[in-house]
Amino acid sequence: MAALAASAAAAPPAPVGIGIEGVHKSFGAVHALVDINIGVRAGEFLALIGPSGCGKTTLLKSIAGLIPIDSGRITVGERVVTGPGPECSVVFQDFALMPWATVQHNVEFGLLLRGVPAKERAETARRAIAKVGLGGSFEYAYPSQLSGGMQQRVGLARALAVNPQVLLMDEPFASIDEQTRRVFQDDLLRLWSAERKTVVLVTHSMEEAIYLSDRVVVLSPRPGRVHQVLDVPLPRPRESGDVRATADFARMVDGLWQVLRKLQ
Ligand SMILES: Nc1ncnc2c1ncn2[C@@H]1O[C@H](COP(=O)(O)OP(=O)(O)O)[C@@H](O)[C@H]1O
Ligand SMILES: [Mg+2]
Repeated sequence: MAALAASAAAAPPAPVGIGIEGVHKSFGAVHALVDINIGVRAGEFLALIGPSGCGKTTLLKSIAGLIPIDSGRITVGERVVTGPGPECSVVFQDFALMPWATVQHNVEFGLLLRGVPAKERAETARRAIAKVGLGGSFEYAYPSQLSGGMQQRVGLARALAVNPQVLLMDEPFASIDEQTRRVFQDDLLRLWSAERKTVVLVTHSMEEAIYLSDRVVVLSPRPGRVHQVLDVPLPRPRESGDVRATADFARMVDGLWQVLRKLQ
């Protein structure tokens, strides 16, 4: 599969930070998030990890403005989030592709919602499909004809097509086999350093959190609170080296495990 190519299109917009201040969210009697405070730096790669049901998806959707919070404040750049905005794109765990539409049309969808004219929509979608390594052969395929890893690349292309400043990813690699996952992780890192987006990635994988991110936020079991924030001072670029084989990498994964095991 072709590596991701840096965009030849318009320069990407400068990344923006995300402010999460005193955020609470309940679903009826279920307290999903309690007093969450996190500052995500502009251009940072932040991983969110924590036990199932601790509110990771709820937090991601709150940042995206897809669900309202009960109290507190979320800002994306200068904007206070009260609904979906142009800065954020979401890559969902289950790909959330439209099965009846081709790859091309799936990727065009976000542009269609933003009122982009047909010709520009088609070109922008084609560029995004090329960026995720599917260019030239898969535009007219349907999602069911693609592997899980390729479907998730389409999900990423759809998110990238609108040129967001913030990429929110909810366990994007969870249902992808280990080999495909590693290739995809490296592609994501290349893309992130070429386009300087702010990324918040939810993961269950300690290795993935350490390999990809600048910092890891550990949430406690429900109700979700920020339990700890760990720095990941591994040198970059990580994708071109053998970071996983280093003692520092092993030590950081173990450090994260020592934090998580006490939460079980
Ligand atoms: N739409 C909803 N209605 C009711 N309860 C919900 C809804 N979304 C999430 N929850 C509950 O909130 C908690 C956190 O869910 P979620 O954010 O999906 O956790 P995670 O992604 O960390 O596994 C869970 O107890 C879940 O059942
Ligand atoms: Mg979830």
